[in-house]
Amino acid sequence: MSEHPAQPANPLASKSSGWSGRFDEPVADFVLRYTASVGFDRRLALADIEGSLAHAAMLGRAGIITAQDLADIERGLGQIRGEIERGSFEWRLDLEDVHLNIEKRLTDLVGDAGKRLHTGRSRNDQVATDLRLWLRAEVDGIAQLIRNLQAVLVDQAERHAATVMPGFTHLQVAQPVTFGHHMLAYAEMFERDRERLLDARRRINRLPLGAAALAGTTYPIDRAFVAERLGFEAVAANSLDAVSDRDFAIEFSAAAALLMMHVSRLGEELVLWMSPRFGFVRLPDRFTTGSSIMPQKKNPDVPELARGKSGRVIGHLMGLLVLMKGQPLAYNKDNQEDKEPLFDTVDTVRDTLRAFAEMLDGLEVDTAAMRRAAAEGHSTATDLADYLTRRGMPFRDAHEAVARAVRLAASRNVELADLPLADLQAIAPAITDDVRRVLSLDGSVGARDHPGGTAPGQVRRQVARWRQRLAG
Ligand code: ARG
Repeated sequence: MSEHPAQPANPLASKSSGWSGRFDEPVADFVLRYTASVGFDRRLALADIEGSLAHAAMLGRAGIITAQDLADIERGLGQIRGEIERGSFEWRLDLEDVHLNIEKRLTDLVGDAGKRLHTGRSRNDQVATDLRLWLRAEVDGIAQLIRNLQAVLVDQAERHAATVMPGFTHLQVAQPVTFGHHMLAYAEMFERDRERLLDARRRINRLPLGAAALAGTTYPIDRAFVAERLGFEAVAANSLDAVSDRDFAIEFSAAAALLMMHVSRLGEELVLWMSPRFGFVRLPDRFTTGSSIMPQKKNPDVPELARGKSGRVIGHLMGLLVLMKGQPLAYNKDNQEDKEPLFDTVDTVRDTLRAFAEMLDGLEVDTAAMRRAAAEGHSTATDLADYLTRRGMPFRDAHEAVARAVRLAASRNVELADLPLADLQAIAPAITDDVRRVLSLDGSVGARDHPGGTAPGQVRRQVARWRQRLAG
């Protein structure tokens, strides 16, 4: 679309706007540009046509328009859909928004029948319907992209069910865990995101059309028919609420913000793991970039950018909440501002999920580096305390005894697991030589063998559970 359309930017002169009759002078050019939304809301065009086709079918069935009018409208909208898909549709800024652009073209194509399409309808219920139709499809697409990412996480979990890495608290080595277990933690987070999106979908999927401008309409409309034709699960029960409600957009944005927060945490971990100080993973070169000055660099730009982009999605959620908080019932033009944040949220989430699925699919793990790091920091100290407790020592005393052993190891610059048996026995006589297995990394992860634990066998069971879920 050109910023400055070739057509007269004067709706009175062109007699083309949907509302010129009551005005003495045309809208100022600047105001036209300020208020127009066609530059972005044309993204709703196919949803707008779908909604109009259902509305027209209802008008025809109810005898509000003739069969001939309906046939003309269907033919015209079909042609317009083709023009939009081919990119030959001429969008006009002076026609303000996607709705008036399509309606004007329809009237040019089929005459009076086109002018009858808007019977019993307002742009207020029309735009709310379009947005819901569009967002519903996007939710389904995002739910699938989440599945794709989960499938990659599950593949990595299977490959690395027994790969030992350090688990952290406070970013200090805490206890050994398996990398597979770590990957499945994210699969769980993304599952909650998916649940939230699909739950929000139920409230997205309600039909505003029929509310007209705000109070309903005097025509004998059949809202249930329109709802059924468009695949809506219910009809919005209150016309004032129907045209002014944007809760569904906010709920979606909240779910998207949480999702991006999860991606951001994963991004942060990848950045850490890729840094030479950790050296745990390598990303495929196609997901990293070099530095223009430092020839040796390989930077984790994609994880960093995802971490950064979570900020804009969280910001859009805030923007939508503030957009709505001061609005009296019912529709207000403020609502036109709901679209750009929603569009950007959808685009950002889609691109990010896709990038992460492809990137993690190519992620290579340096299992030796992970194992080395897991062996640092006396990471199996808790295992030794549990061992002493099993031999009858109260846990608090065991904790104390192991703390002394750790001090001894630290004073000698060795790991707890490397202290000679005699030194351990001097601290706690109950210790025998089976303690070696207890202090080992594989012994440690293998011992956490219950649902939700990090043991390789548990990770494999979770992988199997995930495989079933992903297949279903
Ligand atoms: N472009 C408008 C929007 O996005 C459509 C509804 C306009 N209705 C109105 N009465 N101005 O919200």
